[in-house]
Amino acid sequence: MDLLEKHKGLAERHALMQALGVETIGVTMEKILSPTRALINGRETILAGTNNYMGITFDPSCIEAGRRALAEQGTGTTGSRIANGTYALHRELENELSRFLNRDHVITFSTGYQANLGMLAGLAGPQDTIFLDADSHASIYDGCTLSGARLIRFRHNSAADLEKRLARHDGEGGRLVVLEGIYSMFGDRPPLDEFVDVKRRHDFALLVDEAHSTGVLGEHGRGLADEAGLEDEVDFIIGTFSKSFGAIGGFGASNHPDFEFIRYATRAYMFTASPSPASIATTLQAVRVLDARPELRDSLRRNSARLHTGLRDIGLELCCDEVSPVIAVRVRDEPSTVIMWDALLKAGVYVNLALPPGTPNNTCLLRCSVSAAHSEQDIDTIISLFAKVVAGAAGDAAASA
Ligand SMILES: Cc1ncc(COP(=O)(O)O)c(C=O)c1O
Repeated sequence: MDLLEKHKGLAERHALMQALGVETIGVTMEKILSPTRALINGRETILAGTNNYMGITFDPSCIEAGRRALAEQGTGTTGSRIANGTYALHRELENELSRFLNRDHVITFSTGYQANLGMLAGLAGPQDTIFLDADSHASIYDGCTLSGARLIRFRHNSAADLEKRLARHDGEGGRLVVLEGIYSMFGDRPPLDEFVDVKRRHDFALLVDEAHSTGVLGEHGRGLADEAGLEDEVDFIIGTFSKSFGAIGGFGASNHPDFEFIRYATRAYMFTASPSPASIATTLQAVRVLDARPELRDSLRRNSARLHTGLRDIGLELCCDEVSPVIAVRVRDEPSTVIMWDALLKAGVYVNLALPPGTPNNTCLLRCSVSAAHSEQDIDTIISLFAKVVAGAAGDAAASA
């Protein structure tokens, strides 16, 4: 039997897109020009789908730190920290993050995805139960599977539904509730105060994946718990270096006195190579930049509000009323979404095409992510290109009616 037979559905979908004249697989950025610009199909394109929230991928101090580490410490660590040892830079990054996040302990991972695998499987085991928001990121689901814990899903952002399920739960073992700071597809955030209220009535540990909210939310840029003034109520946080920090890697952080033992108990940390010197040094400098430049958060907020208002004012349906740097436009069906996405790209703006099954409630989305590095002019151009594409789609629909 052909092992790839099971992916026939994907091949058929790709063929359908090609029949529509759209190539969605493997959009190549021929040259990255800046945090907000790339050459795509030979054309200078505004990037509005990068998660480069702080826009620091070209920060000279980060580039210099990475360059120096590369020259002085080589291209890679060639193994895991358990087997090959820890570089002083790994420790320096963990200490700097511990200070930035105001948490006693930080463990870094090679990607954000692995941080979720490692943390969830390190915290929960087959005797425990994980209560999971139904719209959680794939890496959280995969971490839960790896842990072997019993999995109970509750309705998205519903503390009441969580409480109902906690009350019904009769299992033994530990209980872990997992939320995200900003949900990656719709850009919405959970009502953390309501979840914390539930925590006061029921016994569980609370973990927040702040992948999209570190750097973005809160007075100190530490994420949703910082914004809500509830950091003491959150037992564990997870984050990634691939978004606000403009690098690659991930972390888990906590004040739990035994947290360090996760390093010796979790496969996603033990059995994979540690991040390269250039990657660690870049991230370390990025932490310092985020700390020293709170004005980046202000620019991001201004740009996010401008795009949110602008897209709503031209009549688009947004998936979230709250302003966040993730702004998702709901489109009625898959062919229309693909055609609009392609038209936007040809007009000079790159956004994320997000289709079921990777989206909540099987929604078809054009997902934008805003950067502090966008100018007001960039945001206005993105809005006017959306308006042009929507007008074109309406014209096509009228012509074929
Ligand atoms: C909520 C969430 N957690 C974890 C990850 C994984 O992070 P990374 O892409 O850095 O591996 C992502 C990626 O988008 C995410 O959205």
